[in-house]
Amino acid sequence: MREPQIEPAEGLPERVRIYEVGPRDGLQNEQGIVPVADKAEFVRMLAQAGLGTIEVTSFVSPRWVPQLADAADLLANLGELGLGKDRPVLVPNEKGLDRALDLGVTSVAIFASATQTFAEKNLNSSVDGQFDMFAPVVRRAKDAGMWVRAYVSMAFGDPWEGHVPIADVVEVSRRLMDLGADELSLGDTIGVGTTGHVTRLLDGVEAAGIGLDDVAVHFHDTYGQALANTLAALRRGVSIVDASAGGLGGCPYAKSATGNLATEDLVWALHGLGIETGVDLDQLVATSAWMAGRLGRPSPSAVVRALTGAS
Ligand code: HMG
Ligand code: MG
Repeated sequence: MREPQIEPAEGLPERVRIYEVGPRDGLQNEQGIVPVADKAEFVRMLAQAGLGTIEVTSFVSPRWVPQLADAADLLANLGELGLGKDRPVLVPNEKGLDRALDLGVTSVAIFASATQTFAEKNLNSSVDGQFDMFAPVVRRAKDAGMWVRAYVSMAFGDPWEGHVPIADVVEVSRRLMDLGADELSLGDTIGVGTTGHVTRLLDGVEAAGIGLDDVAVHFHDTYGQALANTLAALRRGVSIVDASAGGLGGCPYAKSATGNLATEDLVWALHGLGIETGVDLDQLVATSAWMAGRLGRPSPSAVVRALTGAS
């Protein structure tokens, strides 16, 4: 069977905007360096498969993430396809913003931590210090007419600190939106959240005055909860979902972070509910199968494996 039977359910959005993170969150965690031509082909194939929003790469320190040190080459290779509101890049600081501005990028994502330990490990900063780093980035990005997304990592748990209070996540979220971000993405970096937790956190975020139209969910699938958590978020009013083609990914600075929710698994579930995504599932599966071949290992996505006959 190539498509699920469509049986809609109450209380869900008609359309979901999928925010594809495979080229960034997926490839930042590869052991080896993926050739820039393969990265560009991956982005092209994703766009052709109907993914409107694709986070293309990161303008972070190449010492910290050598896997994405080729960000400028990738954008040159992609030309216009690498630019525009729907092609965000990760930017932690003014140096990253300068690099992005020089290349004509119009959409950036900053990435904060809800916990002290991860702020140190991922940004060499602190929970308070990260806002000093981000404030001029957001101000200058908005002055330049850019669209700005803000991530909150460790929003559901932290491998060093354990449980993370919802109030801490809400506070970091509020501070990010107060800087002027256009969209918030709540990251379960290590995939430990469960459905009730998702609902409670969204309750808290909304009570802090952040409209759920501007909120995305970003689930890694370490504990197999990502799809269930996504459906809980959709029922609570979210309609932007981050996913990674083929389930690639993880964070090099978070032990036990595995791949994101696979875009194919998400699309299968959404299409079965009659929710529009704009994605051609067969083309997307072909893209992930191609990338799995380039990486030399099978895709962890259940839907990719089912539809390609891989065991
Ligand atoms: P630092 O070492 O304190 O920075 O790192 P620094 O200002 O001292 O600079 C160190 C060197 O990096 C210098 O070079 C700078 O010029 C250079 P040197 O003089 O030694 O040759 N540098 C840069 N080069 C290019 N672009 C830049 C840049 N910044 C500095 N933007 C820093 C601080 C924030 C830079 C570092 O910690 C960093 O780059 N961190 C990024 C880590 C990262 O990318 N993690 C993965 C993404 S987050 C994630 O995956 C989670 C997410 O998916 C959501 C979720 O799942 O929860 C988003
Ligand atoms: Mg992530």
